[in-house]
Order: sequence, then C-alpha cells, then structure tokens
Amino acid sequence: MGTVALSGTAKVSLDGEGARSKRTAQRMEKPEDTAFAALAAVSSYLDSDEELPDFFARLSATIAALSHAKRAAFWRLGPRGTLVVQPSPHGFAADSPVHTIRLQLGANGDGAVERLVFADELDLAKGSSPALDAIWRKSGLVDVRSSIAAAWTAGERRVGAVAVYDSEHGFTQRDLWVLRMVGVTAGLVWQYKESEDELGHTAVRLEEAMAARRHLLNNIASGGDEARRRFASALHDDSLQLLTGAELQLERIRGDAATGRQIVQLDQLKHTLRKVEDSLRRLLTNVSPEPLQLPSDLRGAISERLESMRIRAGIEPHIDSRIPDDLPPAIQAIVLKNISEALTNIEKHAHATRVMVVAEAVDGGIRVAVNDDGTGFVVAESVRVPGHIGLVAMRERAQLAGGWCRIESEPGAGTKVEFWVPLSL
Ligand SMILES: Nc1ncnc2c1ncn2[C@@H]1O[C@H](COP(=O)(O)OP(=O)(O)OP(=O)(O)O)[C@@H](O)[C@H]1O
Ligand SMILES: [Mg+2]
Repeated sequence: MGTVALSGTAKVSLDGEGARSKRTAQRMEKPEDTAFAALAAVSSYLDSDEELPDFFARLSATIAALSHAKRAAFWRLGPRGTLVVQPSPHGFAADSPVHTIRLQLGANGDGAVERLVFADELDLAKGSSPALDAIWRKSGLVDVRSSIAAAWTAGERRVGAVAVYDSEHGFTQRDLWVLRMVGVTAGLVWQYKESEDELGHTAVRLEEAMAARRHLLNNIASGGDEARRRFASALHDDSLQLLTGAELQLERIRGDAATGRQIVQLDQLKHTLRKVEDSLRRLLTNVSPEPLQLPSDLRGAISERLESMRIRAGIEPHIDSRIPDDLPPAIQAIVLKNISEALTNIEKHAHATRVMVVAEAVDGGIRVAVNDDGTGFVVAESVRVPGHIGLVAMRERAQLAGGWCRIESEPGAGTKVEFWVPLSL
C-alpha cells in the first residue's frame, strides 16, 4: 500500500524536482518493499502447514536476501541463558561450528550480546558491528567478515536474536531496521506456534479425560457388573462345587453306615446341606449380573416399569415420552436407571396416587421429569442419609454423563425429580 502511494508521489512531481523526488521515492520504496517482503514471509507461516524448522530455513534465506547477506541465523535463548542456533540457519555448511555454539549470556551482563538480546542495542561502524564480529569469531565462526543482529522478541519476552553475516557492501541502518522488524514479527510466530502446541497438548489431555469419563460412565451404566460377576463366579465355582462334593461324600458314607440311627442322622445332615445349597443358589440368582436391561424401545421399558408400579402399588401412571429411538446405550441405561430409582422411591416412600413422567429431547440431550403427588420430604435432610444412596446415585449418574439432576420437594407438596443428560458422551 505504502509503495503505491509513494510511487504516485514520484509521478506527480514537477520535472525540475522530479529526479530528486524520484530518487527519494526509490530510497523510500526499498525499505517498504523489504519490510513487506519480510512481513509476507513471516505471515505466510500462519496459514501454512509448514514445520517450524522449514519456516526458519525459509525466513533465514529471505532475510539474507533482503539484507544482501551471505548467511543468516536465528539464535534462541534457552532456559539457562544460553544462545543456541535455531535449526536450519541459512548459508552455513552442515559441518559449520554454528550448529554447536553455546553462547552463555550473563544475567546482568553489559556485553554486546546481552545489550543486543535484552535492550536491542547494537553499535554499527563501517558496515558491521565490530563487537559482535569479535564474539562470533571467538566462538568458532572464524570466517565472519561482517555481521549485525537484532533482538528476537515476543512482547516483553526475549526469545533470542536474529543475525545476518557477510554483507557484500557493508550493512546499513536500513538493514538493521529490517532485521529488527523481522525479530519482532518472528516473535509473533513463535508465540503463535507455542500456543498452537499448548492447544495440541490440552486437546490430547482433554481427550484422555473424556475417554476415562466414558469408561467410568459405561461401568456405572452397567451397574457395577464387574464386582457382581466376580462374586457370582466365586460363589458358583468355589462354594457350590465344594458343597456338591460334600453331598456326594455324604452319600458314600451313608452307603457304608452301620446302624439305623447313623442313617437317620446322615439324612438330616443331607437335608441341611440341601437347604444351604438352595439358599446359595438363590443368592447366586440375585447377584448374577442381570444383562443390562436395554430394551430396543426405551419408551416401552418406561411404560412397563410404570405398569408394574400401578399393579403393585395402585399408583396411576401418566407418561409423555418424546425421545429419539437411537440413543447411545450408556445414555439409555442412565435414563432408565434414574427413572427406576425415582419410581422405586415413590413406591417406597411417597404414598402417592398419581405419577407423571415426561421425557423429551432438548438442548442436545434428554430431559426427564418425574412428578408425584405424594407426601413430599425435606430434600436437604434426605440427600445424605448414611446407607441411603438412591438420590445421590441419580445425581452422580447424570453429572458424570455431563448433565444435571434436581430434586424439588416439600412435605405435603409431592416431589419432582428432574434430570438432563447430553446425547453424546
Ligand atoms: N418421592 C419421594 N417421596 C417422599 N420421600 C422421598 C421420595 N424420594 C425420596 N424420599 C425420601 O428421601 C430419602 C432418601 O432417598 P434415597 O433414594 O436416597 O434413599 P432410600 O430410597 O431410602 O434408599 P436407597 O438407597 O435404597 O435408595 C428416602 O429415605 C425418603 O425419606
Ligand atoms: Mg431410593
């Protein structure tokens, strides 16, 4: 934009002053073009998929060309105050000492490098910075003929320095100006890159946390099946088999029994063992993990549950269900478990005559409200009664799925249990 305006100025100038104006315009044009080229090189990174080393290789080549230098490098300040070259500097051989140089900066040092990095100060004399040249040569870059450098900054932060080496005609203040601008804009890219990396790490951590939550949720949705399964198999494989073995042994002893009295006693023992076995088998039926009752039709399952409540407790049910058929199984399980708990509570505690269940898809999830016209209760007193976990479990299930659960009740005013769970876990 600047270039266009300046060219216009040169064109409309009168002939007498024309030549001088044109020279001025050209001089002005050059740094503006240079600045534009440098900015374009930096900003092109922001929408490319380029890796950082490639970006620095390209940017180093660009600034070397813009400042008529043979070589260019970015030097990064490490956490221990050491300057190390950023990979892929321009114009250096693969075996150049540049790759291994470690320039240690003093914290309050007032040497040339410290002044450069921390204050962006550099003394330019006869097309170079003699103090800087001396430092490069001392560090191993013995063939440096001229050099200048500018601070590489990101806001208040000092990222390092950007340096160019070996100018054809000596470096100028204009070259230094371009370099300073590159130092500041490269700082922006650095910050951008760092926040991109940070974002990437956060996304990975978030995904891990989500996976853990999904796992936990599936366990909760299946009702602690794992613990029940272990208990049931121990009962079946150990206790019941030992008992069957004991009964067979008893049978043999009975066959060998000498007296009628012994036979009567052994029959009594056999009868007792049978009773033990029966009771253990009943226990086994109770603790065996019920296959998670996930009917293909959640609405049907809710209606069935309400119907059995009507038959058992004489409570009149009403249902208004408008939920999609294809809910994820874990969400179906939570919805069904929470409704079941609310209904069980009504049967056990409410002395209600009517129950209303409303289920609908809202806000990307399922909202369910269960209302009864029963006795009601003081919620604050009942949610954390030791050994009574129904209400707490309802709330935890909903929250773990990323939803919420509210219980509203007052003595004499019935109860409303309401929860919402998102459709995607
Ligand atoms: N719909 C309701 N009407 C009246 N009282 C209720 C209702 N729901 C819950 N309550 C009261 O809140 C208490 C806590 O309920 P919660 O479901 O947490 O435990 P619980 O039903 O007693 O035992 P469980 O742990 O088997 O669920 C109940 O004991 C009851 O006093
Ligand atoms: Mg309960």
